[in-house]
Amino acid sequence: MPAIQPCAPAKSGEDTGSAGCRFAKSEERTSHDQFRRGNRRLLAQGSLNLKLAQALEKLAAGKLVFDYVDIGDLPAYNDDLWVNPPASVLRMKEQVAKADGLLMLTPEYNRSYAGILKNAMDWGSRPYGQGVWQGKATAVAGTSPGSIGAAVGQARLRADLASLSTVLAPSPR
Ligand SMILES: Cc1cc2nc3c(=O)[nH]c(=O)nc-3n(C[C@H](O)[C@H](O)[C@H](O)COP(=O)(O)O)c2cc1C
Repeated sequence: MPAIQPCAPAKSGEDTGSAGCRFAKSEERTSHDQFRRGNRRLLAQGSLNLKLAQALEKLAAGKLVFDYVDIGDLPAYNDDLWVNPPASVLRMKEQVAKADGLLMLTPEYNRSYAGILKNAMDWGSRPYGQGVWQGKATAVAGTSPGSIGAAVGQARLRADLASLSTVLAPSPR
């Protein structure tokens, strides 16, 4: 998936270090290299959305700590897998649950957001009553080389995040 990084803005006053988007202690922090390795099945070489994420991270330095969430190793959603949940799913849910907030970046694919992000949203919404999205402060951004950027994809993502009861920031768009 080209750069779709739910990541999490940090609490103010917390260890910010050089990077990142949540309250991760530095030893827990996921480096860009680890993130790229973890997401190698989904991030295109030179992903514009990864570059955008890194630029936003730079802009937020000193205010937010970014922690990149790897969603490239999540299997396609299947209810049966909850009997013995994949480690990747548990890790992703824990990372999201711990975050003070999320920044989701997506390219536009066929006038929507990337399917792999929807898959991550589906995993994070189950088991019923144990979802991680409800009430989570969430912002959406994204880019594509098209004339309107990833505007339509972002709009669709925002609609689905509303149905998951995240608390959506009005911008960026
Ligand atoms: C299957 C597919 C569908 C796409 N559909 C759109 C689209 O509807 N609108 C758009 O602006 N770009 C579209 N693009 C272009 C991507 O958004 C663009 O390649 C983007 O840079 C990919 O993100 P990345 O650079 O982070 O990998 C599409 C690309 C692919 C592969």
